[in-house]
Amino acid sequence: MTELTVKDLNVTLGNNHILKGASLDLKKGEIVALLGPSGSGKTTLLRSVAGLEYPSSGNITIGDRVVYDGASKIEMPVDIRALGFVFQSYALWPHRTVFENVAYGLKLRKTPESEIASRVNEVLGNLGLGQLGDRHPHQLSGGQQQRVALARALVYKPQVILLDEPLSNLDAKLREEARIWLRQLIIELNIAALCVTHDQAEAMAMSDRIVLLQNGIIEQAGTPQEMYETPRSLFVAEFMGTNNKLKGTVETAVGNMAMLVGDGWALKGMLCNQHKNKEAAVAVVRTERLALADGPGENRLQLPLVTSLYLGNTWEYVFDLNGTQLRGYGPLPLPPGNHWVEIPAAALWIF
Ligand SMILES: Nc1ncnc2c1ncn2[C@@H]1O[C@H](COP(=O)(O)OP(=O)(O)OP(=O)(O)O)[C@@H](O)[C@H]1O
Ligand SMILES: [Mg+2]
Repeated sequence: MTELTVKDLNVTLGNNHILKGASLDLKKGEIVALLGPSGSGKTTLLRSVAGLEYPSSGNITIGDRVVYDGASKIEMPVDIRALGFVFQSYALWPHRTVFENVAYGLKLRKTPESEIASRVNEVLGNLGLGQLGDRHPHQLSGGQQQRVALARALVYKPQVILLDEPLSNLDAKLREEARIWLRQLIIELNIAALCVTHDQAEAMAMSDRIVLLQNGIIEQAGTPQEMYETPRSLFVAEFMGTNNKLKGTVETAVGNMAMLVGDGWALKGMLCNQHKNKEAAVAVVRTERLALADGPGENRLQLPLVTSLYLGNTWEYVFDLNGTQLRGYGPLPLPPGNHWVEIPAAALWIF
């Protein structure tokens, strides 16, 4: 069942056209990551769904209720939309306890005291905050504050929850743990979640689908695998992974394969865009697809090693291709000097 549909949404703030026809949908039990660089319009899209920004055209439907429609001038206020919202900064009230922070919205809605107590205690318990109800926000760690912000959104039992960078204030280790429990929690509650992030690894780990925004336009949407393995544009290819980038000219295209020729090298790759013969193009190769080889062969290059970096679980190698750095991974440190590397043709995407 579709819980949220956004169709062709346009939003202008001041004189800036921020969202330029964005569309997405969200099903029950599904987590969709809204991914994109800073300033691409992620927060604007989330706030528009919540009813905190005023679009100029398009349509927003939550469950079976149209909450915004530009053509028929429907615009439901925030509280009627009944969404959970976790802001980019948690926006906890500093002078209220954890319990009061979570209870506040229910009080405003004139929920009976006994029901407030049981619902707040239930959600605090679910999020591992059962013992912290009497504390104030400044007496909590970043991770605990983040859970309070989430508890405050979940206490209404919304069908759709909107999360704006919910993990961005946590340090790297806590973040990795939090994305696991947050995903489990959303699945357990069987609600739909739209989660903004600008971290592609987090988007892939947490979500069932990813919607990638650039300059207010959705560049591509799909499962994490689709986004990572079959990017439709150079922007998506670059955004979704750690990459090597090669500039050259396209020669001898046959079907969807071509040679990319650069300064002293020629590599076979997959044509991801239409190119004329001798046209300039850029190729992207995921860092993990560059492999060490034992000698010359197709799509192999002999390159000087610039440096090896020890990363704990792997070594990262940096090679030099006439001024362009090429990076790869391997299990052992490499001695200085020249080494053969291979870039499989299927892993060289020519845009
Ligand atoms: N009130 C406003 N008036 C005019 N422009 C605005 C306003 N609020 C935001 N913008 C602009 O809209 C664009 C999108 O902003 P938005 O906050 O949606 O980006 P974002 O993708 O959430 O970025 P970040 O990752 O930095 O949070 C930015 O260029 C921003 O400067
Ligand atoms: Mg934002």
